[in-house]
Amino acid sequence: MKLKFPKNFIFGAATAAYQVEGGRGEDGKGESVWDLFCDIPGKIDRGETGAVACDHYHRFREDVARMKELHLESYRFSVAWTRIIPDGDGEVNPAGIAFYSRLIDELLAAGIEPMLTMYHWDLPQALQDRGGWTNPESVKWYTRYAGVLFDAFGGRVKKFITFNEPFVFTDFGYVTGSFPPGIKGDHRSKLLAGHHVLMSHGAAVRLFREKKLGGEIGITLDYAYNCPASRRPEDVEAAARANEFWAGWYFEPIVFGHYPKYAAKWFEAHGMLPKITEEEMKLIAEPVDFLGINHYFCNYVAADPSNEREGTRPVYPCVPYSDNGWPITEDGFYEMLQYFRSVLKVPLYITENGICLNDVVDVDGTVEDSRRIDYLKRYLAVLSRAIEEGLDCRGYYYWSLMDNMEWAAGYKPRFGLIYVDYATQRRIVKQSGRWYRALIDEKNQTQREGTPRLVKEDRTAFTTDAV
Ligand code: BGC
Repeated sequence: MKLKFPKNFIFGAATAAYQVEGGRGEDGKGESVWDLFCDIPGKIDRGETGAVACDHYHRFREDVARMKELHLESYRFSVAWTRIIPDGDGEVNPAGIAFYSRLIDELLAAGIEPMLTMYHWDLPQALQDRGGWTNPESVKWYTRYAGVLFDAFGGRVKKFITFNEPFVFTDFGYVTGSFPPGIKGDHRSKLLAGHHVLMSHGAAVRLFREKKLGGEIGITLDYAYNCPASRRPEDVEAAARANEFWAGWYFEPIVFGHYPKYAAKWFEAHGMLPKITEEEMKLIAEPVDFLGINHYFCNYVAADPSNEREGTRPVYPCVPYSDNGWPITEDGFYEMLQYFRSVLKVPLYITENGICLNDVVDVDGTVEDSRRIDYLKRYLAVLSRAIEEGLDCRGYYYWSLMDNMEWAAGYKPRFGLIYVDYATQRRIVKQSGRWYRALIDEKNQTQREGTPRLVKEDRTAFTTDAV
């Protein structure tokens, strides 16, 4: 399989604060909505919590050393708002700033570019108690927090991401109820919260420009692209409608400056749409430097007039599936990238892509996850083809650097390039991690000293396993 990437293309890996850090309540950290949500019996599988997670808060140095051994070029991580401003809009906590400062310095010293996500779902509980994202004040709270991050880390960090996946945390928070604040079926609050999130994003971009810090700022949106189940025009139209209600609801305001028209009409007719002004839309569409996309799979849909909202029904493709039941749909990924190529005017980063597998440690102590390598090959082949055809994509971040707390599903789903034994916090680089390193080396066409080319034999190269 030929994977051809430009030399300046960046290969990295991603994590998020709540999923890896642990260190609950340490050094002045405030409580986030996730800290408290996990305390509620029945919310998280097996009653698990992120209180310890991968203990990255204490082990970040060895984790950076391992990233270096993997030859990662960039690390995408998120900052916990509650470490920086424990109650969300009060006093700044110097110990929280110091932690991320040390992490950033460690990365820079290792030659790994930090990509900083400012919000990956862990809202301070004190702000949730005041209505969270449904409160219009949230724009002010977030902008102040953003300013603190820019002042503390601007210059050293060259890529900021305002939000991770607004669709997911507003939809799961207010419609499915599987995420905090755990409310079900409240589409009005979901749309209102989403609108404030997008305005907060725009306000942070403006502030970033005012501060003239250098570097770039963007947002990460999830895109589980809806593909038509056939080329029949009614299926093609149905898929376009479905995209408007899902990922497109956040994509179009950022990229085109307006909410998707069909979906907006529908929400309005059903009394769900908040009042929206032109000024607000201008703020939301404040030009970004890049767009981050998280993508795991595509949905296939056919036209079905009996569904009175989108007019679609799902069609389950006959493809391989991951161990958490997500289809492996690299052809749909290609369709999605074609769409991006036709509409995007800014560079794209794939800020997350990865597969969940039931990885096991063999008797000889290794984790042989060839299906993950197969997934990577399928998706990267598509990406490399799209780039060759003219897509301006500048980087790819595998999700995740290491196994971690998969939100409401707890620790069972494993996505990492690095296996985490939660009982001992021992890390084991998986076969996929070794493959990823070989890929990065090949792209750079440099054979670093002591780095075997044949990833299969490369078992002794990782020296920093924690015990
Ligand atoms: C999120 C991650 C999550 C991953 C796998 C993305 O939606 O940004 O936090 O772990 O998907 O579910």
